[in-house]
Amino acid sequence: MNINTIISMKLKQILLTLNIKKNTNVLVVKTTKHNKFGHYQINGITSLANIINIKPTILAENIKNQLKSLYIIDKINITNTNFINIFLKISWLSCSLKKLINSSRLNISKIQKLENIVIDYSSPNIAKEMHVGHLRSTIIGDSMVRILSFLGYNVIKINHIGDWGIPFSILITYLEKINININSKVISNIQLLDKLYKRAKSYYDTNNNFVDQVNLNLLKLQNGDIYYNKIWCKIVNVTTKNNQYVYNLLNVTLDNIDNVGESFYKNMLLDIVNDLKNKGITVNKNYLSLVIINNNKKDNSTHVIIRKENGTYLYSTIDIASIKYRYEILKADKIIYYVDSRQQSYFKNIFFIARAANYIPKSFKLEHHILGMVLDKDNKPFKTREGNTIKLIDLLNESIKRVSIIIKNKYPKISNEKLYRISKVLGVGAIKYFDLSRNRSSNYVFSWDKILNLRGNTVIYIQYAYIRINSILKKIDIKQYKYSNYKNYYFGTNEEILLIIHILRLEEIINNISKYGTPHLLCDYLYNLANLFSNFYENCHILKSDKKIRVSRILLLLVTSLTIKVSLSLLGIDVVDII
Ligand code: ARG
Repeated sequence: MNINTIISMKLKQILLTLNIKKNTNVLVVKTTKHNKFGHYQINGITSLANIINIKPTILAENIKNQLKSLYIIDKINITNTNFINIFLKISWLSCSLKKLINSSRLNISKIQKLENIVIDYSSPNIAKEMHVGHLRSTIIGDSMVRILSFLGYNVIKINHIGDWGIPFSILITYLEKINININSKVISNIQLLDKLYKRAKSYYDTNNNFVDQVNLNLLKLQNGDIYYNKIWCKIVNVTTKNNQYVYNLLNVTLDNIDNVGESFYKNMLLDIVNDLKNKGITVNKNYLSLVIINNNKKDNSTHVIIRKENGTYLYSTIDIASIKYRYEILKADKIIYYVDSRQQSYFKNIFFIARAANYIPKSFKLEHHILGMVLDKDNKPFKTREGNTIKLIDLLNESIKRVSIIIKNKYPKISNEKLYRISKVLGVGAIKYFDLSRNRSSNYVFSWDKILNLRGNTVIYIQYAYIRINSILKKIDIKQYKYSNYKNYYFGTNEEILLIIHILRLEEIINNISKYGTPHLLCDYLYNLANLFSNFYENCHILKSDKKIRVSRILLLLVTSLTIKVSLSLLGIDVVDII
């Protein structure tokens, strides 16, 4: 249990004894900005007192009197603006710190009630190479998989690969047009397929006859045409194999068994369309099945097509089916989608339909965690100089290359094997960390300078702190400290206390991230941790201090190092040990 929860729970109890039951969340427990005001603070006393019509000073006093006996609290001050400042007991802090040292999960509690959470992420389309547009969904989704699993949720990963819609039909129709058949080498070459898809798409955008042919072929594919299904199978295989290579390099946990593409739901689609019709949810217009949404606002009504005139199903039909499947068969309690913000209204509509059809109970949570885009310095979508999409694999290789040049300059004697291994961890980690450190719903500008900066909130800065700690620890016999029964830890300086309190906040941060899908909070946490460590390191002697202090400070170093390692691993980033 974390400090914030301990204080908040006690506060709730106190308010009950004061017979205050409503508006209690006006009071906010948080860390203070400056240590001299205490370690934690309760804000909102005046607002609550005004609501319930009592004097703020009286409310503050009443709370203080009952709170001061809490076992983690040393003393409490009330400011003249009625903030309650809390100083924690150093003995309690050191004891809590000591408990973390032999716990690989830093004593962070697991959730009480098991919940099944489906995370729908990455989800590229087939016949294309993954590009920079897939970065955010893949990385943020992966980090959320790690964080929620760590907290004890049963996470079901789903890579909802786009393999059953128009784009695929555009490609096969074009291949047919240029006489490429199933035996051609092109079919197993993802780079060529990617190029041909682009040509096919611009042909599709300008040629009506081709559009008709594409629709016809999609119908054939969806109706089980043997030849199209064979090509489909081959192309799915080359694409997933190629994607798997990128996932492995990215160190994300997606694997073949997580691939549950759009085609998986093909046998459910007719039933879905009929069922929605029977329930009066669809309106049929010229054989087109549509669901009208916001029907009452005439001009503003939107509609979702779930079956076209010629009988083909759409992206939307599949998403509706997948919600039903995930609830009924996978027994999900919640589905989270990591998909870019352009699909926001699409998901709203799909969720509306799934609810209207009663495919899920009222309490079922459907959340679209929207993602911003990666932009270039002119705030345009990040592309190559020629205006093409940037392939993920090229971006990662470029980062590895840039990092290896930096390392080689610093450590000219490093062996090639070691150079590659470390550059890979740092190069891939740098791209991931930069992406993860941005608020997921905003766009961000891609900048090599920022990504590889040795100072700011970058993975290099965090790893540098980790390396520094480990190089000190390497000089001593850690076991002697790690398992020591030393009782009286002694922490006297501000730098130490601030670092300890920050370490103990990890659980609070992770719990927040789990609610809102915001791993950037963990990057902020790591950045502050690295800064607090630097302050400590620069102001407090470690090896040169006398035994009592030395033992305590080494304990603090050990736990700081473990905290960095665990936090980075929740972001899907490995640590590098001493170079
Ligand atoms: N394949 C889609 C795209 O590239 C993303 C799929 C997201 N997931 C979903 N269930 N619709 O835009």
